Order: sequence, then structure tokens, then C-alpha cells
Amino acid sequence: STPIVVAIDGPAGSGKSSVSKAAARKLGFAYLDTGAAYRAVAWHVLNTATDPADEQAVIDSLEDFGYVISTNPDEYFVRVNEEDITEAIREPRITDVVSKVAKIPVVRQYLSDLFRHIMATTDKPGIIAEGRDITTVVAPDAPARILLTASEEARMARRSAELPQQSQDQTASALRARDAADSRVSDFMTAADGVVTVDSTDFSYEQTIDAVVEVIRSRT
Ligand code: C5P
Repeated sequence: STPIVVAIDGPAGSGKSSVSKAAARKLGFAYLDTGAAYRAVAWHVLNTATDPADEQAVIDSLEDFGYVISTNPDEYFVRVNEEDITEAIREPRITDVVSKVAKIPVVRQYLSDLFRHIMATTDKPGIIAEGRDITTVVAPDAPARILLTASEEARMARRSAELPQQSQDQTASALRARDAADSRVSDFMTAADGVVTVDSTDFSYEQTIDAVVEVIRSRT
């Protein structure tokens, strides 16, 4: 039967990835980190010495983008052309250029088609896909759609905890710049029609997972 699709969007530092992964585990669902796919394109672009600002060169680089992502929340990995880049895509050098490749329409179309294919073919009863435009563009008809938000202060604090090697100012300005660039491409700060907002500002990690699972259960 057709898998149940759950769409979750939100800004950087909202806890989307870890919360979506944990919710998928609780429900026995697959998990799709779409941001990881955009990061993998950015990694591939840098790895092939392609100029991220040269749109045509980035598009051409997709020809040998041998991309494999795990949708198993218990055994998560990302590979490009056999290389494991699960950790590498989290490096600031990737985070700093990812918005540039993500704003290219051909890249978005290419990855969105791939996401829809992954969603339709999972062998689990459902799949949680998480990103910036899943509730609006990739899976607007999903039965459960959630916008996961948190105050800017809370998001900065969480991101700083993840990147202790960076100064708080660096982390804050990088996060603001990325949100500003990304919001020119998709509006992930306001809930579209029918999308349920979960604000995690005053929630613990566990409470956020419970709130998300509750919304999914009530809608599916
Ligand atoms: O979610 P994460 O922060 O890993 O996403 C990395 C980048 O991928 C975002 O900053 C954005 O540029 C891009 N992205 C996107 N659309 C999505 C998911 C991520 O443009 N659905």
C-alpha cells in the first residue's frame, strides 16, 4: 500500500532533523533528510572543483552525482560516488555554500523528483521528510504537514551547542545569513494553509518529539 507521507519544514536550528529522526523511530517510519541532499550537492560541487556560483557548471556536475541516502533512522548515512560524507556535509565550508546551489531551479527540480521517488518507494508504512519546502512544494498533499519553529534565540543557542568550535557570533551571523538566503527561495517561517505549527521554544527535546508524534497520529 502507499506509504503515509509526513512533511516537516522549519528554519535552521529548529531541531527538525533530530526530532524528525526520533519521531520516525517511534512510529516505525522511514526518514528523509532533504537538507542532507542539498548539502551533498554542495559537497560534490566543491569536491569536483566546480564554482558554486556558476549555475550551469553546478547543473552539469549533477551528471556524475552518484547519490545514496539512507532512509533508515537507525542507520543513517549519506554517500556520493561511494564516499561516505555523513559527517563531512556538516562542516561549515558546506553550510556556507549550500544556499547557493539550493537556489538553482534545476537543482531543486532534480532533487524534488528524487525525494518524491524515495517517498513513494519506501518499504516502511510511512516516511517523514524534513526540509524547507516539503509542506509546500515536494509533498503539499501529505496528510500530516508540520512547521517546526523556535525563537531565533533558542535556535542560535542550539546551533552554538552543536558547533562549539565556532564563536557564538560566527554561528549567529552564519545562521542568519543562511536563513535570509533560503527564505528568498521558500517561505519556511510561516505555516501554509493546513500546516500545523509546533513551536519548540519552551519545549525540551523529548517534549518536541512527543508534540510532533501527536500531530502525526491525529492526522494519519
Ligand atoms: O536542513 P539543513 O540545514 O541541513 O539544510 C541545508 C540547506 O539545504 C538549507 O540551508 C537550504 O539551502 C537547503 N534546503 C532547501 N530545501 C530543502 C531542504 C534544504 O533548499 N527542502
